[in-house]
Amino acid sequence: MTNGTPPFGRTVRIKGTGSYVPERILTNRELESIVDTTDEWIYSRTGMRERHIAADHEATSDLAAIAAQRAIENSGLTPADMDMILVCTSSPDMFFPNTACLVQKKIGAHRAFCFDMEAACSGFLYGLEVGRQFVQSSSAENVLVIGAEKISPFVNWKDRTTCVLFGDGAGAAVLQAGNGRGIMETIMGSDGLLADLLIMPGGGSRYPPTPETLKSGIHFIQMQGREVFKHAVSNMTKAALDILKHTGVSIADVKYIIPHQANARIIHAIGQRLGGRPDQVYMNVERYGNTSAASVILALDEVARGGQLEKGDLLLFVVFGAGFTWGAMLMEWDNS
Ligand code: ACO
Repeated sequence: MTNGTPPFGRTVRIKGTGSYVPERILTNRELESIVDTTDEWIYSRTGMRERHIAADHEATSDLAAIAAQRAIENSGLTPADMDMILVCTSSPDMFFPNTACLVQKKIGAHRAFCFDMEAACSGFLYGLEVGRQFVQSSSAENVLVIGAEKISPFVNWKDRTTCVLFGDGAGAAVLQAGNGRGIMETIMGSDGLLADLLIMPGGGSRYPPTPETLKSGIHFIQMQGREVFKHAVSNMTKAALDILKHTGVSIADVKYIIPHQANARIIHAIGQRLGGRPDQVYMNVERYGNTSAASVILALDEVARGGQLEKGDLLLFVVFGAGFTWGAMLMEWDNS
């Protein structure tokens, strides 16, 4: 699916961003005492050194609410200005009510309508595109899109092939109409035929929780890492190249490529295939691990708050996640 800005409707930009990661840091060295692994193996294969893990009393909506408050403040708005809250997550507090309603309650955004969306690690980009449609069509003025995960309870801490990869965190963005180009184009794709390669089969209606499902561990993340790696590189590269081709933008004109932070080797491979300079490819996987739907907005918030963006800069987001789902988005930055 490709969606350029049609010749009608408004252009949509990110007015403000915010993020939050839990206090507790889990280092590779600590993981050495949990599973049969080493700091050297994890760093050389993934680029990760540490990740943040939420406390027992913190749920996804708690992380999301702090990120949301920071994004709203950064936008110069108040929670009451929000028309819509969309939480993108694979680790909701519970099946229902949706996590966005729980965030609404915490931050007091009483005017908003609220719903969740699940597209795994692609979630935030999918959420931005959904939010963009509401603003572009004038159905909403201020849309709060949140990517938030407390993924740590769904990681099998006895499986060294997955437990070293993931971390918890949240980020949020406020979308508004703008005068510039804003979100210029989005490409999204999915392939459900490959669903089994990255899956958490238990706990839903297919395999509701029973003592047997808990014992067999099917409520944990299961992943065929090498296969995921290959599909991630090829689909993310193609989505990014397609978007550059459709828009006629050269990679040299992009200020930052902000990929989903799954693995440093995946990120380097995409950067090389796109012909990007190393300084164009943003990476913070070393400090956060893979925070799934939160990763892209955590990275964007860092870049924006670090003062590294100016009005008119072009940003290229590219994502990949379970499903499989993938996508790319080209955006002209303007939070003025
Ligand atoms: N520590 C030490 N050894 C390990 C570890 C570990 N943590 N994990 C695996 N190994 C071992 C394996 O058992 C294997 O040993 P063997 O050769 O004796 O069988 C060896 O290391 C190599 O294993 P591979 O799986 O081939 O290692 P690879 O280089 O592929 O790296 C990794 C594994 C990091 C998981 C990689 O495949 C990867 O990053 N894949 C993509 C994962 C990803 O991005 N997932 C998220 C997608 S987005 C989403 O929606 C969640």
